[in-house]
Amino acid sequence: MSNLRLVELDADNLAAAISIPPQMGEKAYVAPVVVSIAEAYVTPTAWPRLIVDDEEVVGFVMANWDPDNDIPEFRGGIWRLNVAEQAKGRGVGRFAVEKICEEARRRGYDKITVLWDPSDDGPEQFYLKVGFARTGELFGETVGTLAV
Ligand SMILES: CC(C)(COP(=O)(O)OP(=O)(O)OC[C@H]1O[C@@H](n2cnc3c(N)ncnc32)[C@H](O)[C@@H]1OP(=O)(O)O)[C@@H](O)C(=O)NCCC(=O)NCCS
Repeated sequence: MSNLRLVELDADNLAAAISIPPQMGEKAYVAPVVVSIAEAYVTPTAWPRLIVDDEEVVGFVMANWDPDNDIPEFRGGIWRLNVAEQAKGRGVGRFAVEKICEEARRRGYDKITVLWDPSDDGPEQFYLKVGFARTGELFGETVGTLAV
């Protein structure tokens, strides 16, 4: 049984957060958590959360809630999602998407977006599996949209 929940970052869980792969300089389809946290620090609309299972840190998700953004794809949705290696394949990513949908509804959104690298070994199959539909392209990435 899992006991997944989202928690805010704090001084006690920061080290565990930034230990989630990838590390700085590592080639990957998502930025290192330490970069996302730095971006959150300078982006008031960013909404970073750790994903915790009981006491174990199993992932990191960052939404962006910016309803007035000039670019419609950036008005609300998932900006980053990193699941820890040992926790992949047990529903952590799906849980994070569900919690972001819940937060979106609470904020009055009717849909969320996410951008992903379309490479074969990227996260596309995951996003399609959890309900996103391909709705466009932006900056060389695929745009996915999910009604909430
Ligand atoms: C992509 C990622 C977030 C998926 O997280 P996860 O916790 O392993 O995914 P889940 O266990 O919640 O999987 C949900 C569903 O998607 C499927 N799925 C997950 N990854 C998949 C993949 N690479 N290919 C095909 N299906 C996949 C699962 O089989 C599952 O299907 P099911 O519900 O029918 O069993 C995770 O692998 C990850 O962090 N990857 C590296 C970083 C990344 O690419 N992040 C996204 C950048 S925007």
